[in-house]
Amino acid sequence: MSDDAKTETSEEVSEQQKMVPIAIAEFLNGMVSPADLYIRLGSAKDILVFKSGAKFEQERLNKFLDKNITHLFVSYEDLKKICDSAVSFAEAGISQRFLDMTKKAFLLQNATSSVYRSFENLGIELETFGAATKTADAVLEMVNSDYDILSMFEILHSADHHLAGHAVAASILAPVIGYEMGFQRPATMKLLALGGFMHDIGKSQVPPEILDKPLARMNSAELKEYQQHCLRGAEMLKSLKLKSDDLMAIVFQHHERNDGSGYPQRLRGQKIHPLAKIVGLASEFLNMVMPNPRFNKKPYSHDEALSMISHGFGQPFEKDVYEALCRVVGKKENKKAS
Ligand SMILES: [Fe+2]
Repeated sequence: MSDDAKTETSEEVSEQQKMVPIAIAEFLNGMVSPADLYIRLGSAKDILVFKSGAKFEQERLNKFLDKNITHLFVSYEDLKKICDSAVSFAEAGISQRFLDMTKKAFLLQNATSSVYRSFENLGIELETFGAATKTADAVLEMVNSDYDILSMFEILHSADHHLAGHAVAASILAPVIGYEMGFQRPATMKLLALGGFMHDIGKSQVPPEILDKPLARMNSAELKEYQQHCLRGAEMLKSLKLKSDDLMAIVFQHHERNDGSGYPQRLRGQKIHPLAKIVGLASEFLNMVMPNPRFNKKPYSHDEALSMISHGFGQPFEKDVYEALCRVVGKKENKKAS
């Protein structure tokens, strides 16, 4: 046990409120701990292992992993400090030329996990929304670089937070499709990145036992509850009084489909916000091609997913958006071949 741990008894720590687990993988060698971090031994026995300001050393982190300790715990009140630190690390890392794409993807994934953890545990507030905006801006900076962006989806699925891998991937893919369609205005690109990042935010309010079920196995009550995530997400944004009707529309309408087969309002064609159509298709595609550890289902290849979207499901998606996605995927395949 470390000296830090010896200074605090389990009785003292158990006085603390609820604690939130964070995967050890999110703490990087050389990074300074933004808050006091604990390991949990039993239900109410928490031991301080990193004081706020202590430097993480890989060797020490590995020792916890060797003992099958995969998470450190932080108090609710310190959750925001962890989030701010992860977002600052991602912002700094993305702007570094010497960092490779895998490391940048890892930093973005960490920041996204941290932001979603805050949404889930603390609800939405302006400060956390600001962290989401900064992360989406960092994603956009990555999109604007010369990386083979789609190969990031293979890295991102392992995000510790179940919603984060999908959120950061959609935050990448939506503006990539937007660029391919000819959108150029920076404000539009920011909206697509943030819309991709936030579109499923309402799922943070859906019971995990429902989210853990594949759609096909949900009963009608569960499906109804699941589909509420669009409304809940919009309500969360509304509570911030942001005055961003576009972002609200993306979140509320990302499951609407051109042929009226979507939800929650069964809107058709022109009634659906054009950016919601882009985020909606990006999200659908990613659900097919990214592994989902909770369902243990083999992901489809990019071509299989495109084929299913185009033939298997009728024509629920806007042709222009679908064709842009095909070109994006085609470019990636060409890059692989060359
Ligand atoms: Fe959704």
